[in-house]
Amino acid sequence: MKTVVRTTQLLVLSGCLSALVAQDDAKVNFEKDVYPFLKNSCVDCHKAPYIKEGRTRPTKPKAGLRFDSAFGLVKGSNDNAVIVPGKPEESSILQRTMLDEDHDNFMPPKGDALTDDQKKVLEKWIKQGADFGGWKGSEEARPDDAKDTFETQ
Ligand code: HEC
Repeated sequence: MKTVVRTTQLLVLSGCLSALVAQDDAKVNFEKDVYPFLKNSCVDCHKAPYIKEGRTRPTKPKAGLRFDSAFGLVKGSNDNAVIVPGKPEESSILQRTMLDEDHDNFMPPKGDALTDDQKKVLEKWIKQGADFGGWKGSEEARPDDAKDTFETQ
């Protein structure tokens, strides 16, 4: 009888554990889980060129970096890649959000900082290979040689 109980308990326990593991392995969906908070905290300054009210010359994305499109995220800034698939610790898109808020390089310089949960999701998405799952985002001012995924680079 005792053994039966133990077996049942073990089964319940292992059920819980595999549920936890499954949850941790679940693939991050870029469009659903990541893009909404990038849009909220980052896209205003990092998007396709646009004409601000009362101006004639277009306002360019800061550092040439666009987060409104897969090709923009793949390309990175004028100078640097900002995502290294599989390597969150080398991806400035995440690292800049993890600095002290008063650090010169902290992102975003204005507006809502990413929450700890959002940083964790971003980290996981990069770790899992930074897959956009077919999401493309804005096609505005798309260069001819732009790529939508890291795999085809
Ligand atoms: C208020 C405008 C603004 C917002 C909002 C903003 N940025 Fe920036 N970002 C800048 C400016 C200006 C620069 C260029 C100066 C610098 O590198 O700090 C920059 C540069 C960067 C760079 C460095 C690019 C390079 O060349 O290496 C990264 C990475 C970055 N931003 C990520 C983010 C992320 C992630 C968010 C949202 C959490 C964000 N930014 C929100 C203005 C902004």
